[in-house]
Amino acid sequence: MFKLINGIYYSEHDLDLDHERILQEVIDSRNKPEEGSHYSRPHQNDVKDMHHTFYEDTNLHDKTYLTMKNSVNSIVEDIFGANRMETEEIWGHIIPPEEQTMIHDHGDMFNDSLGLSWVYYPHAPKNAGNLCFMTNSGTNNFIYQTQQKKGKLFLFSNYLMHFTPRNASKIDRISVSGNFLATNFLKNELLQDSEYENPFWLYHGKK
Ligand SMILES: [Fe+2]
Repeated sequence: MFKLINGIYYSEHDLDLDHERILQEVIDSRNKPEEGSHYSRPHQNDVKDMHHTFYEDTNLHDKTYLTMKNSVNSIVEDIFGANRMETEEIWGHIIPPEEQTMIHDHGDMFNDSLGLSWVYYPHAPKNAGNLCFMTNSGTNNFIYQTQQKKGKLFLFSNYLMHFTPRNASKIDRISVSGNFLATNFLKNELLQDSEYENPFWLYHGKK
């Protein structure tokens, strides 16, 4: 009797990585920045506006960037097939005790970008705050709290609002995030997908 008109999903995955090593590499990328072949985020010292979420971010060393890129890419390929999504950027995120990540999304309003965003947690300190998604239907707002777990990857629409409440642990909360953009190949598939069978619609809802 009931049929869903506009639903939004996210997905959870377990990454098979050396989580301790990634954790240390993210910390190193802040403390010992290196020149590399990618530039996803400015160094904290170069961010003039402390209210901007870039202030909490860190540009990863190339080796960490590539490890994360390959690992998350294989998950996305399993879902969409090859050459449907391409990595746009990947960065580390460091939230000290008693700080929080304010609500934001990763979409680009000027380019109407189609894509996916992700967050990976190489650790899950107790009381560090769980990733929360916010969506709405009609006049109702919903906040969905995920459960943070070591090694967990969360994949979601780049336009889905999210935040993480105060880090009530005694140590820095470390995560790695990234954005994928849909390739032209996928965009063409979506244009012809009149039955909404592509998994893309699970993340973004039907238009
Ligand atoms: Fe985010």
